[in-house]
Amino acid sequence: MSVQTAVKRATAPDIRARKRGEPIVMLTSYHAHTAGLVDRFCDVILVGDSLGNVMHGFETTVPVTLEMMILQGRAVMRGSKQALVVVDMPFGSYEASKEQAFHSAARIMKETHCGAVKLEGGKRMAETVAFLTQRGIPVMGHIGLTPQSINTLGSFRAQGREEANWAPIEEDARAIADAGAFAMVVEAVAEPLARKITESIDVPTIGIGASAACDGQVLVLEDMLGLSPWTPKFVKRYGNLGPAIQAAIEAYAAEVRSRAFPGPEHVYGMAKPKASPKG
Ligand code: KIV
Repeated sequence: MSVQTAVKRATAPDIRARKRGEPIVMLTSYHAHTAGLVDRFCDVILVGDSLGNVMHGFETTVPVTLEMMILQGRAVMRGSKQALVVVDMPFGSYEASKEQAFHSAARIMKETHCGAVKLEGGKRMAETVAFLTQRGIPVMGHIGLTPQSINTLGSFRAQGREEANWAPIEEDARAIADAGAFAMVVEAVAEPLARKITESIDVPTIGIGASAACDGQVLVLEDMLGLSPWTPKFVKRYGNLGPAIQAAIEAYAAEVRSRAFPGPEHVYGMAKPKASPKG
């Protein structure tokens, strides 16, 4: 009999159960290779539509398509074993109706085998969140600053910095929680408001530019590794890989030009001649 220790992947209910428990660690990944690195240390891997900025050089996430999300979602699933993989629903794939959202989310789940989807919006998306969760699709919400709405917002500005503006953001959080989301990202929301929301709802909050009181935190991997040309105030750089990568590429280019690479140890010699059969 063979003994196998199967690694159990985290599920949306596992993350849901972490409210007021050990903080939830979440990072983005868009590739099999980085997914393997992130998987060892994180509870949740987000295949964020920030891949539009990071991988494709778009100024906003608006041009990202369902096909892009599915392709990278599949790569991340192949590269990871234990974290819950959440795939972002891109702009235009879910806002028209709850039926449109179901078809897009079902494609993401079937074609990537991920464990959940994420969509942006508060009260206006509550009916859709309920429709999806009642039909077997775990949904992570995303409130506060919602980058897909950049063209109506006008700029990427922190939300709720004046108490007079708190009520609609609190209503958004409650609506998404009541609709059945298993967790929600709270992005760029003034710290006291993010704290208040976290304390007042029963669904885990995952902060980005929000509050240390949130039930978890998320960052874009390339931002925290120092690979992004510009990072917002709320990003802490845990590494500065840009210069190290540049130095390695510079050394490679110099060695190719001087024929120092490949060395004898990097090329194949001839096979040894086979001994002729006896007789
Ligand atoms: O797309 C993304 O990476 C995100 C995070 C910033 C939460 O939505």
